[in-house]
This record gives sequence, C-alpha cells and structure tokens, in this order.
Amino acid sequence: MYEQISHSLLNAILDDLKPEIRRQDLRHFYTRLGANFFAIHSLFSTLYGHRDDFADQMLKLVETMAMGYVDRSPESERLDINRETDHNWFLSQRWVGMALYTNGFADDLADLSQKVGYFQELGINMVHVMPILECPVGKSDGGYAVSNFRRIDGRVGDLADFQALSEQFRANGILLVLDIVLNHTSDEHVWALMAKQGDLEHQEYYYTFADRRIPDLFEQSMPEIFPETDPGNFTWNEEMQRWVMTVFHDYQWDLNYSHPAVFIAMLDIVLFWANQGVDVLRLDAVAFLWKKIGSSCQNEHKAHLILQLLKDCCQVTAPGVLFIAEAIVAPVEVAKYFGEDAIVAKECEIAYNATLMALLWDGIATKNTRLLREGIKSLPSKLDRATWLNYVRCHDDIGFGFDDSDIRAAGYDPSAHRRFLVDYFTGHYDDSARGLVFMRNEATGDARICGSLASLVGLEAALERQDARLTRQAIDRILLLHGVILSFGGIPLIYNGDALGVLNDYSFRDDPDKHEDSRWVHRPKINWQQAEQRKQPGTVEFEIFTAMQRMIAIRKQTSAFADFNNRELLPVANDHVLCYARSDGQQGANSVVVLANFDASPQQVELSDLCRHGMQQGLSHGANPGFNSHCTLTDLYTGAAPTQFDGGIVLSGYQFYWLRQQG
Ligand code: GLC
Repeated sequence: MYEQISHSLLNAILDDLKPEIRRQDLRHFYTRLGANFFAIHSLFSTLYGHRDDFADQMLKLVETMAMGYVDRSPESERLDINRETDHNWFLSQRWVGMALYTNGFADDLADLSQKVGYFQELGINMVHVMPILECPVGKSDGGYAVSNFRRIDGRVGDLADFQALSEQFRANGILLVLDIVLNHTSDEHVWALMAKQGDLEHQEYYYTFADRRIPDLFEQSMPEIFPETDPGNFTWNEEMQRWVMTVFHDYQWDLNYSHPAVFIAMLDIVLFWANQGVDVLRLDAVAFLWKKIGSSCQNEHKAHLILQLLKDCCQVTAPGVLFIAEAIVAPVEVAKYFGEDAIVAKECEIAYNATLMALLWDGIATKNTRLLREGIKSLPSKLDRATWLNYVRCHDDIGFGFDDSDIRAAGYDPSAHRRFLVDYFTGHYDDSARGLVFMRNEATGDARICGSLASLVGLEAALERQDARLTRQAIDRILLLHGVILSFGGIPLIYNGDALGVLNDYSFRDDPDKHEDSRWVHRPKINWQQAEQRKQPGTVEFEIFTAMQRMIAIRKQTSAFADFNNRELLPVANDHVLCYARSDGQQGANSVVVLANFDASPQQVELSDLCRHGMQQGLSHGANPGFNSHCTLTDLYTGAAPTQFDGGIVLSGYQFYWLRQQG
C-alpha cells in the first residue's frame, strides 16, 4: 500500500543507509521493501512509536534487513524467487517431515549428513533438526536455553558442518527446519551476563525488578509451566540483586520485546539462519512473547504484532523461508498464529496441531472417537496459504488441553476426564501404557504425560510379556495414528524413532542433569544396529517401518491429501470410527474417504451413511466426497477392496482405510 508518511520516511531511510549497503544490487530487496514497508512501519510504530529514538531504530531495522539480503546466497535467492512463483508449494501432499535430536539420531551433524539415505528410504523430505546452538551444559532444557545464537554446540559440530548438512539436504530435496528460541535466552547469554554485571541497557533486554512488587502482581494471573521443578515465574539473581522473569526454567530469562533493540537483534538472528540455508524456522514458545500484568502472559495481541512484524521483515530479505508457530495453546488461540483477521497467513505459515495430537491420544485411551470428533469440529479453519503440522509424538510432553465444552459435548466431566487420561497413560488401570507423569501441579490438579509412542500404545508391555497378539495390537495402533496424520491435511511430522517402534529410554533417571525432566524418557538415542531389523521380515521394526514407508509413498501420490481446506468430517453412526472425506479440488473422482477404528474389536460402518452424507453435503472444493451407492471401493493403503458385510464396511481392531471410489 502507498501511504505518504511511511513512504517519505522510507525515502529518508534509503538516503541514510550505510554506503556499503547502497553499493549493492538491491533490486529484489527494494521491490519487497516497497511492498511491505507500510505494514512494517505501522507495526513498528504501534509497538515502539512512543520512543524518542523511533527514527533511529527504524533505520536500524531497515539496515538489518538490507544486510541480511546482501548476505543471501544466489542459491537461496533462486529458491526465494521460485517459491514466490509457486507460493502454495508447502500445501502439497508431497511433504513428510521428521523431528530429531542430532545426537539422538546420529552422532553429530557430520554423521547426520551421512544418514540422508534413511530419510530417502522412508520418504522423509523435511527434517526438523532440534536445537543445536550453544547452551550451558546441565542447564540447557534440551537445547532451548541458548547462550549463543550464532554458534553451534561444539559437541555436534560447527557452522561448516551445518552448511555441509544444508547443502546435502538441498541436493536431495530435503527441507531443513531449525529452531529459533525467540522468547528467552540462557542466563549465560552475553546479554544476561552483561545485565548481571549491572549494564542497564542489557537489563532492559529482560524483565528485571528490584523488589517483588511487580513480580507479585504478574504472578496473580500467570500459570506455571514447570511447577514441580521451577515453581513461579521469577528468579532472584544474586549478582544483579534483582528479580528476573523466568517463565520456563530458572536459567531461561524471558526477553523483553517492548524494547526495539531486542526485536532487531532477534530479527538479525532469524535472517542469519535463513542465510545458512534453513528453509523453515520453528519459532519456539511464540505464545509467550508479550507480557502484560493481569493476563496469563500468553497469546497477547502484541505477541501477534511481533510475529507479523517478523514475518513482514523476513519476507523482504528471505521470502522463501517459512515460519512454524510452536504455540501449544487452546484451539481457538492456535489459529491466530497464522494471522488474525487475515486471508493468507501473515504471521506463521505453519502451526503445530497440538489439539489433534491430544485428541488422537484421547481416542486411544477411550477407544471411541466422541471427543476426537467434537474437537475436530471445533478446530478453527485455517487460512489460505497456511497449514498444520500434524503429529502424534514430539520431544515434549502431552497435555490434554481440549476445550471443556468439547469434553462435555462428548459426555464427560472435564476434570474427571483429564484425570482419567493421565491415569490411563501412566498405567493406573493396567500396565500396558507406560507413560510417566510430567509436572503435576498440586494446586490446580493438572498433569501432563511423557513416553514414547511405542511405549504409550502398549508395545513395551507386549514385548515384555512376549505376547504376539498384544504386540500386533500395539503396532496397529501406531499405524492407525499415522494413518490419520498422513491423511488429515497438513504436513505430517514423524518423531525420531517412531518409524522403528523405539521404546521408552529410562537412562535419564541416572543422569543428574536430566533426572528431574521425564521428557527425556522419549528422547532416545537410536540404536542403528537394532534399526537394521527394519529390513528383516517378521520383526517389529520391519512391520512398522515398511507399513509407514508404504503409507508415505501413497500419501505423496494422493492429491486429495494436499491441504486446501478440503476435509469434511463425516458423522457416521459408529462411535468407535473416525471418518472424514478428503476431496480433490481439481478432480472430484479422486476424493478419498478415511475410516479409522479406534477400538480393539471389529467395527462396521454403514455404506449408506457415507453415501448419504457425502451426497447431501458435498465439499466447498470439488465434487461430492462420499460414494455412489453402487460403486466399487479400493483401499489405497492395501490396494484391495475393503471388507464388506451386510451393506457395511467392516474394519478390524485398529484398522484404517483410505478409500477411493472406482468408476
Ligand atoms: C518449547 C519447547 C520445549 C521447551 C520450551 C521452553 O515448548 O518445545 O521443549 O522446554 O519451549 O523453551
């Protein structure tokens, strides 16, 4: 948009740019800056316009974007331009992700580069390399307490190894995803060290207070994230003789984004990593970016403005780079991280679908899909040019943060139901689910759970008992859950080890740096000798791996699995079965109906239900997603016709179908 005030400011800024920037060829940079400048200026002045140094800060902001552009490699620029042309590229069904810790999956970055073959074997083409930046040993929160945002932890390698990895990924068509921990730094980051030494400018980078007056006011409405190990949201710092806000661990200091210097410094870091060949940046803990007394200090409007500004600036320098919002918050809040009041995403293009993840676990525990369906119905619709990251497990705990109203609609009492889920997964009813409790909050009664996918669905217990039937059941549950995330719409993100059925790793209990954090139970080191079993028919690894391989390959060929708001929940009469249709915008005939049986017993779904609903409702994109009453059906996953009986489709325990109508 052209607007006189911001445009004349832009002219003045361009005149004032450092000579070394002005000498560069900035053609693409200028067009993008012109297009985004009105928005950038408006957001920056909403956040910082009251300050005397506003004009200086605005100049620094533009210089930071320009310097980032000057450093962008020709290869990255080529990708930027291709992705501008094919701007919906990431909505395609051909992307399948995996999240891993470098030293859990491999020895280090160099070794990770050698493991591209494994990704290709499985069909993975997007890899989230969990945080690898420098962190103090023993005070790292698994890499989320960064002490230097530009240096790689020496134990996994250095920048040259990272560049080699990024080149290796690019050469093999694999997207590289990296974390940026925007919300806080380690208390050993140079900014914190300077703050501790009394440097006032750097004290302003954080929320620090001489006494408890303000902290006590904040505490009245702020929940606790790690109540067992790090109760409260403030920590007294002896050196500084001040309280500092520490929402997560006491060594993670929350950054204060009401200072433009913090925003500009973090933008500079975002652009630095964008220029190292990163395709997608996972923005950690974005819900916490703005703090306001009297609020929970999560999902604040200004947190969204910070993200919009970050996106607008990154689009000027590195438009091909996408953002993932890691916001594990209530369903109505999550969708706002795509951008409030927007049509296409204007904050983060991708967001974790934590709601679906937790709902799937509810289905496993209850063996019915009542809450799963209610939750899916209330999932806010996503914007165009935005997509979900669908996952079953990740490196974090599982919280059951569904909407209370959805829980009631499914026929349960919210707090009793949440208690049931925690009890179920921690083996209270039988010991088949091997989860561990995480951060029980005695005051609120809340708790979350940890555990690897395989151990939570009963594989660990089944193998211990050498029970072939239970082993098969656990494998089928693993495949069922992936059958949903691979077909739901969005990018599926498979967690390290889950395609091999890796069990809980209890060794963290003997490690003094880890024993208090049960999330380490599901952050194992892959045993590659054992992983070789994936090639050996009859083994658990083979059963899981080859099935996932097949599912991934089929997903990639199934255009109805791309994410264009083309999913419709079909309300079949059988409570145990989740059913949705995925239509293909271009070719109605290619629609797929997904059926997933969350019960251990066989279940039947009336074919007439699917026909009736499909025919009456249709989908906004493309043709009728349901079936004609006399059609021939094929399950894309097995390549065979589904079992039918007495006018119905029959699913065995934990079976899923991806059904397509032939002819
Ligand atoms: C994110 C990370 C989690 C970490 C937290 C604090 O939620 O996923 O592992 O503990 O941020 O950085």
